Amino acid sequence: MTDSASERRHMAAQLASKGVLKSPWLRGAVENVPREQFLHPGVFLDEGRTWRPVTALGTDPDEWLKIAYSVDTLTTQLDGHLTADRADEPVVGVPTSSSTDPTTVVGMIEALDLTAEHHVLEIGTGTGYSTALMCHYLGEDNVTTIEVDPQVAARADAALETVGYSTWTVTGDGLLGHPSRAPYDRVIATCAVRRIPYTWIRQTKPGGVVLGTVGSWPWGTGLARVTVGDDGAAEGAIIGRSSFMQARAQAVTPLAGDLSARTAYADSDRPTLVPPLVLEEWMPAFLAQLAAPGAQFVRASRSDGTPLRYLFDPERESFAEFVADGDGWTVRQGGPVALWDDIESALVAWQDAGAPDIDTVRLRVTTASHLYWIDRRASLRWEHRLA
Ligand SMILES: C[S@@+](CC[C@H](N)C(=O)[O-])C[C@H]1O[C@@H](n2cnc3c(N)ncnc32)[C@H](O)[C@@H]1O
Repeated sequence: MTDSASERRHMAAQLASKGVLKSPWLRGAVENVPREQFLHPGVFLDEGRTWRPVTALGTDPDEWLKIAYSVDTLTTQLDGHLTADRADEPVVGVPTSSSTDPTTVVGMIEALDLTAEHHVLEIGTGTGYSTALMCHYLGEDNVTTIEVDPQVAARADAALETVGYSTWTVTGDGLLGHPSRAPYDRVIATCAVRRIPYTWIRQTKPGGVVLGTVGSWPWGTGLARVTVGDDGAAEGAIIGRSSFMQARAQAVTPLAGDLSARTAYADSDRPTLVPPLVLEEWMPAFLAQLAAPGAQFVRASRSDGTPLRYLFDPERESFAEFVADGDGWTVRQGGPVALWDDIESALVAWQDAGAPDIDTVRLRVTTASHLYWIDRRASLRWEHRLA
């Protein structure tokens, strides 16, 4: 077996020089944990429209190490079942499990502020690489990790054993946490959730931290870090941009078929004050998800090339259709909720406040609701009730 010590040291140095890797213990973990052991049977490399399968066994050992230590997300499963050893040629598919980009993993672990006696719950084991980094410091008994996909969990468990960690790898739905090993000092989710499940707060000690990506769009999602209080509520902030595959039960199915049929009957139409194209930017997209949780953004065009954009909220049976109109856009809205009115007023208030970045957003989670705010203005506060 080719030894990867120099690749591990090189990756640690790269992450440290980027300012992501700061703690000496985490540097020790990155230098010690062999990422290639977590990539069996192989990975899918992104080729734009298709994914090229590359297996450990079928690849030159030096080339395999180069892939394993690229500071990139390495996709290990497509469409909830396909692994690289089962594909002979490039395939199309949607990534459903991966070893996340080490910059993101290390940045998130740093944000946990771990001390050696902490007990951690990880949601989304994936390959088990991030689990191993934490086990290196905390010990195998202090890390519990949950993976929803039994095959992925079994592979991660085997890889963790291979590198010497008989940790608690649980197969199950991480949205429910894992009560039998609670309470935890830290909860970290490496899949995105629409909102932080209250079970994670309940299973965390007062003073403990919950860290996870919130949102349901492929972009415009934020890394929430909340501290649990004595009163059972948790409060904190969005500490930066973050992008992860969605928790499986919450994955959004792309809308298909004739969209014009879904928007045939509008209740109103008017010119927009803000072009809908701003929703293609990160912070406006995050605001849109705060103002209209449940809405999906869809890009399309008419057969004559006229650009179209849509917002659909299937649960609230509402839509907004945007049609390019000269220099501006017209919005047609239908259904009980005027989605664009809500989003546009958030965008206007945000622009008036000087367009602050995502890390100015604060968050409070209770059993009853999620409250997000930027400042005291009512137009920059959004309460999502759970009832
Ligand atoms: C991006 S990968 C995890 C990356 C992993 N931590 C690593 O660095 O190797 C996300 C994982 O979350 C898992 N997942 C999705 N929904 C889940 C859920 N509800 N509970 C537990 N795991 C879930 C997926 O199956 C996938 O393996």
